[in-house]
Amino acid sequence: MAKIVNSWNDWDPLKRVIVGRCDNSMIPPEEPATSEKVPVDSEMRGMWGLRPLATVERGNECLENLVKILESRGVQVDRPTPLQWNQAIGTPDFRNDSMMTCMPPRDILLTVGNEIMASANSFRCRYFEYLAYWPLMKQYFDEDPEFKWTQAPRPRLTDASYKHNYYDEKISLEERLVRTANKDFVTTEVEPMWDAADVMRMGRDLFIQHGLTTNRTAMEWFQRYYPELRVHAVNFPGDPYPIHIDATFVPLRPGLIINNPVRQLPEEQRAIFEANDWQIVDAAQPAHDEPPALCYSSVWLSMNCLVLDPKTVIVEASEVYQQEQMDKLGMNVIPCDLRDAYPFGGGLHCSTADVYREGGCEDYFP
Ligand code: NVA
Repeated sequence: MAKIVNSWNDWDPLKRVIVGRCDNSMIPPEEPATSEKVPVDSEMRGMWGLRPLATVERGNECLENLVKILESRGVQVDRPTPLQWNQAIGTPDFRNDSMMTCMPPRDILLTVGNEIMASANSFRCRYFEYLAYWPLMKQYFDEDPEFKWTQAPRPRLTDASYKHNYYDEKISLEERLVRTANKDFVTTEVEPMWDAADVMRMGRDLFIQHGLTTNRTAMEWFQRYYPELRVHAVNFPGDPYPIHIDATFVPLRPGLIINNPVRQLPEEQRAIFEANDWQIVDAAQPAHDEPPALCYSSVWLSMNCLVLDPKTVIVEASEVYQQEQMDKLGMNVIPCDLRDAYPFGGGLHCSTADVYREGGCEDYFP
């Protein structure tokens, strides 16, 4: 039987990966954790329902562009099985009028070595999203005797999991930034809650963003679950909507990270990288002033690249400044037209989840 699941970081040679699907995607109804994360001036405020079919088809076309590039590079691609996301859901603790999507996989699945763990997301609409990946998990389980198929403790997501009326419509950007700086976020600490896209894997070290989608209790949970790894909480005070680390702090290869210039890692948290001779470089400016229509993310998806190996990276085709910078940093750049998939939950890194990269668990910060 083969070894199918293995990945310790975001840069070792990629051999197998999951790419999401846009089918049946919803703009979910407002709920305690989501409204805090939709910018006040977003056209999506107050809106919910099925995403327009033409945008779904176009998003899927973009994901196919990515699949073709990956396959042409010898990377095996697996796809999730979408559900009818417009169904209402319920648990003993909450009801929600719909689910969301199976884009992006990076938010839901965390691969650490031979384990893939489904996350403990704070959005109620994402509570059953993991089901889209269960057929793949079962396949890996049948074919790889060492594969660990795991589900993190499921949060209850009762009203006690959220601070209510935490942001009102009138809150200024400055006040949001003060709250980020004070590490004062919408979720409470009654249970671990985390999105997999807040976790940056670097061999023996996990750097986890504390923000709107991942709380402190999750960090403590991770440290106890992986006693052999070191868990570091990181914060980016320049970000008024701190959600997911992969448009903020993105490693390209051992020793090199690009950092969003408006969301700088604080001095004291840089120390571990500097002490180990890692270079932290400001990322290039995005090529766009605005995200595409009906998109939750910022223009900084420009940085959200997929590293195929320490010398090769896929960058969104219109992000010419980011491509130019990667080239100067010594990477071979493969452009991929993906921008119309952004509204479904993110860029190239978001749209994927690692299954197999070569290499083992190295200590990059001895
Ligand atoms: N908070 C991020 C999402 C990254 C995938 C951004 O919009 O910049």
